[in-house]
Amino acid sequence: MTADSTIESGDDLGLAAETTYCGLLEDIESYLEYQRDEGAVRLEVDRAVLEELAKEPEPEAEVEITVDATAIPDDFQTLEAVSAHISTCTNCELCKTRTSTVPGEGCGDGPDIMFVGEGPGAEEDVQGRPFVGKAGQLLTKMIEAMGYERSQLYIANVVKCRPPNNRKPVKEEMELCLPYLRQQIGLIKPKIIVGLGGTAMEGLLGHPVGITRMRGVWQDYEGIKLMPTFHPSYLLRDPSKKKEAWADLKLVLAELGKEPPARK
Ligand code: URA
Repeated sequence: MTADSTIESGDDLGLAAETTYCGLLEDIESYLEYQRDEGAVRLEVDRAVLEELAKEPEPEAEVEITVDATAIPDDFQTLEAVSAHISTCTNCELCKTRTSTVPGEGCGDGPDIMFVGEGPGAEEDVQGRPFVGKAGQLLTKMIEAMGYERSQLYIANVVKCRPPNNRKPVKEEMELCLPYLRQQIGLIKPKIIVGLGGTAMEGLLGHPVGITRMRGVWQDYEGIKLMPTFHPSYLLRDPSKKKEAWADLKLVLAELGKEPPARK
């Protein structure tokens, strides 16, 4: 890849196998793969960025992992307090590779719906906000099709730090992070929770689920109605499944006594 090169198609998004600074290049490779999977067909690369890459990396600061679930207080009084604690959390390995923590955002005061995804991706890790990449854009469209603005609902994830290479968070990571989500739900008090995809549902329910079978069937999360549906990333990969996801969201609206607005 040369300086200021323009990558014209998804097929060009791979990097050469020979790399010098493996960690960094692996991150870049996975970011490019992520962009390709999300449908990117063109990416501009700045010369200054490539020059920066050519420099010797600084030695990594050692982060001490304190795997201790009791390190999370169980009596947060505000969402801000939860977010502040998340921002310094070192309970699992994900803290070593994150850029930002992604606690969640939206209406924290009894919204109709709280969407729960699996964990931040590359773009979310950079911005510190949930669902802002390609999948997030689709989620935003889904929310708007239901007649809401993002800010009227709450959006969060099971894990608050990006798993490297966008891998699925492992069971231990989900379990260690769950106290944050549980307390967020307790403070936010959404009328309905929508679980986005099998991993989010696994995190919420504490056991693996088959999302294809479970979607569209009401579940319970500590007394709150929980609707499982497909993850927007899956819908981007298989748009034929959007119909089913929309049917699930209409069940949610019906439960709230609402109908989707007429399409413009
Ligand atoms: N996928 C998720 O599950 N969560 C995000 O925040 C973004 C993508």
